[in-house]
Amino acid sequence: NAMLAWQRTSYHFQPEKNWMNDPDGPLFYKGWYHLFYQYNPDSAIWGNITWGHAVSRDLIHWLYLPLAMVPDHWYDINGVWTGSATLLPNGSIVMIYTGATTENVQVQNLAFPADPSDPLLLHWVKYEGNPIIVPPPGIGMKDFRDPTTAWYVASNSTWRIAIGSKVNKTGISLTYETSDFLSYQLLEGVLHAVPGTGMWECVDFYPVATTGKHGMDTSENGAGVKHVLKASLDDDKHDYYALGTYDVATDTWTPDDPEVDVGIGMRYDYGKYYASKTFYDQSKKRRVLWGWIGETDSELTDLEKGWASVQTIPRVVVFDEKTRSNLLQWPVEEVESLRTSHKDYKDIKMGPGSVVPINVGGTATQLDINVEFEVSKESLEGAIEADVGYNCSTSAGAGGRSVLGPFGLLVVADQTLSEQTAVYFYIGKGTDGNLQTFFCQDELRSTKAPDVLKRVYGSVVPVLPGEKLSVRLLVDHSIVESFAQGGRTCITSRVYPTEALYGAARVFLFNNATGANVTATSLKIWQLNSAFIHPYSF
Ligand code: FRU
Repeated sequence: NAMLAWQRTSYHFQPEKNWMNDPDGPLFYKGWYHLFYQYNPDSAIWGNITWGHAVSRDLIHWLYLPLAMVPDHWYDINGVWTGSATLLPNGSIVMIYTGATTENVQVQNLAFPADPSDPLLLHWVKYEGNPIIVPPPGIGMKDFRDPTTAWYVASNSTWRIAIGSKVNKTGISLTYETSDFLSYQLLEGVLHAVPGTGMWECVDFYPVATTGKHGMDTSENGAGVKHVLKASLDDDKHDYYALGTYDVATDTWTPDDPEVDVGIGMRYDYGKYYASKTFYDQSKKRRVLWGWIGETDSELTDLEKGWASVQTIPRVVVFDEKTRSNLLQWPVEEVESLRTSHKDYKDIKMGPGSVVPINVGGTATQLDINVEFEVSKESLEGAIEADVGYNCSTSAGAGGRSVLGPFGLLVVADQTLSEQTAVYFYIGKGTDGNLQTFFCQDELRSTKAPDVLKRVYGSVVPVLPGEKLSVRLLVDHSIVESFAQGGRTCITSRVYPTEALYGAARVFLFNNATGANVTATSLKIWQLNSAFIHPYSF
C-alpha cells in the first residue's frame, strides 16, 4: 500500500516496526547518544512493553540495537515501563525504571550496564534487590511511576529522584532521597501538587540558566537558575511545564506565576506530543528534550502499516531571556547536516485572500522551512477590533476569516488544495488597541481518509515589540513539527494525506485575513536528506 508506505518518516527516529511510546533513559556515554524507548516487539499496538535501544553519534543517524530490557522478573513481568538515567560523577550509570508487577503494582527498579566499558551499553543487569521502591501508604498501587533522573544535594551528600502520582484528582510529585541508590527514603510532603490535574506521568525536573544559552547538569542550583517542572497529564495526554524555584532545604518547588502552574499553563507542544523527557548532553553542554509523537489514525491502520509512533527531532531547551516567562525549544543543530538544496525567497507580498504556490526545489515531503512575516503597519493600525479571545482549538482553523488572520503556510498540500495542513498566525486586537498573536496548526483538511482524528491545535505566542513573526517548520512525510518565534510555541501534527503525497505534495503561502497586507519578508526552504537509521550488524 503506497499510501501507507509514504507515511513512514525519513529523519525522525522510529523503530523498524511495531509499537513505540515514551523515550526512556536518554544519555550521552563514551561518544554515543543512547535512546531507549517503550517498545512492543510483537505488535503495532501498545502491550508487552520492553526497552528498545538505539545509539547515535549525532542524534540524527541511528543504529538499532537489541532490546535492552524485557519483562522477565515478577517485579516487571507486566512491563518494563518508563525510567531515567543518571550519570554519576565517577562515570557510572544508574538506570531507574518502573516495573508493572505480576499483580500490576507499579514499583521502581534499578538496572546497571553489565559492561561499563562497552560504549554501546548492549547488556543490562537488573539489581538483585529489586524493587527498590514500592508505593507508599496513601498512594494507589497503579498511580506511582516514571522516576526522574537523580539530582545531587551537596548539603547532605545525597541524591534525590522524583516520581509522579496523584491523590484523588490532585496531581503530585513525590521525592525520594538516597545515598547509595539501593535504599531510599520518601521525603515528607510533596515536591509540588496541583489540584484537578489528575495523574502525573513522566515527571521531569531540571534547572535552566536565566542568562546564557548553555544547558545545566541536573544537579545545578543557586543564583541564576530556575527549575522547570514538567508533568504529562494522563487525563488529557498533554505535556505541561512551568518555570519556578526549587528550595532544596524544604524540597519544594514554587511556580513563578501560580496562574501558569504545571498542568494548567504552558505546554511543550500544543499538538500530538506526550511523555517527553530531557537529558543533559555533557558533550555539547546543552539540555536536550525528546518527545513521543503518537498516531492519530486508527489502530486498524497501524496494524496494517505494521508500526506506530515516532520521536520528535531532539530539541535544545533554554530559558527565554527575552520574555523571561517561557522556554525556547529548537531542533538540535545536527538536523541541519541533512540539508541539501536550498531555495531562498524575499518579500513575497500577500494581500487579503491570497494563496501563493512555492517552488521548493524538489519534492515537498522532507523539508526544513524558515519563514518570517510582517503585517503592514497600516493594516495593524487600521484594523478595528479583532478577536483577542481567539482559541485555535475551537476556531474554524485556516478557513475562518478575520481582519488580521489567519496567514501562514500550507504544507503537505496537493495542487488543488483538496488536502492541506495549515500552519498559521492569527492576530487579535483588543478594544484597547493591544495585539495578541496566536500560533495554530490546522489539520481539518489534512486528509480525506476516514478514521483520522483531525484538530486545530495551538495557543498564544509571545511577540515582543519590533519582532517579526517567524516559524521554523520540519516536514517529514506524516509529521509537521513547527516552532514559532524561535521556539516559544511549538506544535506537532501527524498528517496522512491520500493525494498530497510523493511528487504530488506542495507548499503554499496563504493569507486568509480580510484586512491585513502580509509580506513574507524571508522564506528559506531546504530539502532534507533521509537519516541513516538501520540495524547494527554484529
Ligand atoms: C506514558 C506511560 C508511562 C508508563 C509508560 C508505559 O505514556 O503511560 O506512565 O510508564 O507509558 O508504557
